[in-house]
Amino acid sequence: MLALYDAIMARLAEAAGIDLILVGDSVGTVMYGFDSTAPVTLDQIVSHAIAVRRGAPKTHIVADLPFMTYQVSDEQAVSSAGRLVKEAAVDAIKLEGGVAMASRIEAITRIGIPVMGHIGLLPQTAAVQGGYRVHGRDIVSARQMLDDAKAVEAAGAYAVVLELVPQELAERVTASIGIPTIGIGAGSGCDGQVLVSSDLLGMEAGFNPRFLKKYANLAETITEAFSAYASDVRAGAYPGPEHVTHLSDETIAALEDRT
Ligand code: KIV
Repeated sequence: MLALYDAIMARLAEAAGIDLILVGDSVGTVMYGFDSTAPVTLDQIVSHAIAVRRGAPKTHIVADLPFMTYQVSDEQAVSSAGRLVKEAAVDAIKLEGGVAMASRIEAITRIGIPVMGHIGLLPQTAAVQGGYRVHGRDIVSARQMLDDAKAVEAAGAYAVVLELVPQELAERVTASIGIPTIGIGAGSGCDGQVLVSSDLLGMEAGFNPRFLKKYANLAETITEAFSAYASDVRAGAYPGPEHVTHLSDETIAALEDRT
């Protein structure tokens, strides 16, 4: 699974055979420059999901429910999930939380919308979880995570993301439930993996968490391309003769006559 937010990237992901696309609320930090995912709105996710669906008509698309679009009540959660299916034709929604969010998962699946869970680090509420850190290192939080995974499955989720979880715990969570786990920073024992597309493309030179493998260095490639373009324009080297269109001699003559 790849998190991405626009039609052009969705088209490339579909062509590459990516199984699932996540229109993640990481759009807030990646595309809007927020410090966290908390400010992202449902309107923003709907709008990005519409673009992604246009780019990847055949791929299974999951969209995040943003912060405070499902926490208030089961009714609020159902209505937010419904908007994403109706307006953006996503296949499923994802929401953060285990035991505490079981009734939301149940309410959304009951009306026929598939739900992907998300446990471990919960970016929407990372501040109260003690920041961006690995979760489940001690016995109490490890047991809590197993309980969360079971609650998410029992509530009807069809898959669950495990974010920043030690390898041995992720393996045990995966073995203890019947739905697929999709890891990010959770090691190789999960059933699937998810990364943010701009991270794996190396678009942010300073972002180098331990779990990330960069499959390209687009920060360098793009900066070099932008700077070569600016130099060419300043030097008059772009556009060159091969980039321009010409008037016919007849039209030029007519223009000159009139002048
Ligand atoms: O918003 C997102 O991109 C995510 C992934 C990190 C799983 O939730």
